[in-house]
Amino acid sequence: MSTAYEIPDFTKEHLPDARLPLIEVDNVHKKFDDHVVLDGVSLSVSHGETLAVLGRSGTGKSVLLRLIIGLATPQAGTVSLYGKNINGLSLDQLNQIRMKMGFLFQQSALYDSMTVAENVAFPLAHHRRGMSKSERDERVDHLLTEVGLVSNHTTMPSDISGGMQKRVALARALALEPEILLLDEPTAGLDPISSDEIDELILKLQRERQMASIVVTHDLHSAKTIASRLALLDKGKVVIEGSFEHLQQSDILFVKEFLKQS
Ligand SMILES: Nc1ncnc2c1ncn2[C@@H]1O[C@H](COP(=O)(O)OP(=O)(O)OP(=O)(O)O)[C@@H](O)[C@H]1O
Ligand SMILES: [Mg+2]
Repeated sequence: MSTAYEIPDFTKEHLPDARLPLIEVDNVHKKFDDHVVLDGVSLSVSHGETLAVLGRSGTGKSVLLRLIIGLATPQAGTVSLYGKNINGLSLDQLNQIRMKMGFLFQQSALYDSMTVAENVAFPLAHHRRGMSKSERDERVDHLLTEVGLVSNHTTMPSDISGGMQKRVALARALALEPEILLLDEPTAGLDPISSDEIDELILKLQRERQMASIVVTHDLHSAKTIASRLALLDKGKVVIEGSFEHLQQSDILFVKEFLKQS
């Protein structure tokens, strides 16, 4: 007999302890065949915090996000969301938690054959089946306003810039009012101005919504703007974690070089 699994209610009114990590990665090891990608990574993110995960290409940043979403499983260590080890959950239970999460994958991955509004409405149509069409339209309108694209409802993704596509992807990631937000390179491939605009938008959304967020980025400037904490990955490990100032003061050679080159 299966018992219903309840996601703890972490709305502000009911939050038992605001410091409780919503995302906890504990000593995670992940390899593909003999290729060790993550070699004992631990991180935690609480309500209202944004952690930037930095590192060179191929250091396992996207793999880390996939582990947190439960799209991949670590060989050792645990990923807990809302205090529950996700490895022990059924797919149904995991999907319940995923409904509280918003993702922006590295390639914005918009549906090419759908308009901007249909892309944003997609998670609502699938996961809020009780919602009427007019409620859904209103919600999509609100989301597109939030990301500054209110006049682009009927535009096709191929007809808008890369920065606008990221905005659409962000609106879609926010559609289910997530408490956990995972963004993989939200500013990659954008010019500095579009990149700054996306950073400002992420900051604004985070101030309003107080999610537990992880933003993967190559971009130190962006990380400094949006994150309360930064973690730098190298050779499967977190080399350093803390404020930007903490990183700046580090004597670790790799950290110094990373800051210099970024
Ligand atoms: N499913 C997979 N099978 C085999 N190897 C994989 C798989 N997924 C990732 N890898 C390998 O794991 C390593 C880390 O990949 P990952 O995509 O996490 O890097 P990244 O830090 O996100 O890089 P980038 O900054 O370029 O996006 C890479 O060497 C990649 O080839
Ligand atoms: Mg990546």
